[in-house]
This record gives sequence, structure tokens and C-alpha cells, in this order.
Amino acid sequence: MGDAVREKELRVSKIKDGTVIDHIHGGFALDVVRILGLTGKEKRVMTIAINVPSKRFGVKDIIKIEGKALSSQEVNRIALVAPHASINIVHDYEVVEKTEVKLPQAIEGIVKCANPCCISNSDEPIVSKFYVKREEPLLLKCHYCGIVLEQAEVLSQVLR
Ligand code: CTP
Ligand code: ZN
Repeated sequence: MGDAVREKELRVSKIKDGTVIDHIHGGFALDVVRILGLTGKEKRVMTIAINVPSKRFGVKDIIKIEGKALSSQEVNRIALVAPHASINIVHDYEVVEKTEVKLPQAIEGIVKCANPCCISNSDEPIVSKFYVKREEPLLLKCHYCGIVLEQAEVLSQVLR
């Protein structure tokens, strides 16, 4: 590839150490940032690319966060808005670990049931539990009362 072409294609620079969340569906990067509770005031270098061309998805979003590692609970939350994202851990400019985000079969303790009469909303010490009925758009079914939650409801909860 010629230097001129390379220069035209360079969109965001590589990072030295941190996490790259790649293959986020186009338009969902800001939701992911929000889910991670990042505000931009953390004094970390963060690059966000939205709706860039992707061979696999047509368009995709990318988030690069210098100096941050993600917990498994953070990865589970990302799965709710970006079920096919890849998480790349970068050390000294090299990708040392790559994992594909995957929605678990059951989602526990993250989303609250919308049914006020559901036992998971009672005084009983019961952790909410939902089954993934459909991935895109997301559709969850409560293990306890059977009520179905649509993507918009789930997102409004986790993005709060
Ligand atoms: N990346 C980065 N900084 C680095 C290394 C990688 O920002 N020091 C980014 C790349 O730009 C890319 C992602 O991390 O967005 C994954 O890197 P890599 O595995 O090298 O790219 P691909 O082979 O294209 O990955 P995939 O097969 O997952 O598409
Ligand atoms: Zn319920």
C-alpha cells in the first residue's frame, strides 16, 4: 500500500496500552461509552469512531481507551448494546488478547423486571433473571413472570 493511500485510510491511531472495543454496530458507540460510565473526564485518552466502513458489517463503530481494562460485568453490559463487538487488549502496541462479546443465555442482576407484581420486584431477596429470546433487536423474557422486555426498555435501564 502506498504512503498516500495509507494516509488517507488512517482514521484513528493505534494505542500503546489499553482496550479497543471493535465491531460495534454502527451508531452504538456512544451507548457503549455511556454503559461503561465513561464521561471523558477520566484523564484517559479515548478515541471514538462512528459509522466507519467495515467489511463485515457495512459500517461499524470503534472505541479505543488508553490504560483501561474491562471487568467481566462491564463486558456483559456491553453485550446488551453491542452483542457482536470484539474486545482487544493491547499491551505495548500489540493485541495480546481478543475476545468476542457474547450475550449469555441468561442475564442475571443487570436488568429489572418491568412487571411490578413480579417476585423479583418483591421484598424477597431474588436476583432478576432473563432469558435472551432474540439478540437483535434484543428481546428478554423474565424467568419468574414470563414478561417480555424489548430492547428500548432494556437500553433505557442500562443507560440511565
Ligand atoms: N488496535 C489499536 N492499537 C493497537 C493495536 C490494535 O488501536 N496497538 C486496534 C486496531 O486498529 C483494530 C483493533 O485494535 O481496530 C484490533 O486490532 P487487530 O487485531 O490488529 O485488527 P484486525 O486483525 O483487523 O482485527 P479483527 O480481525 O478483529 O477485525
Ligand atoms: Zn418478571
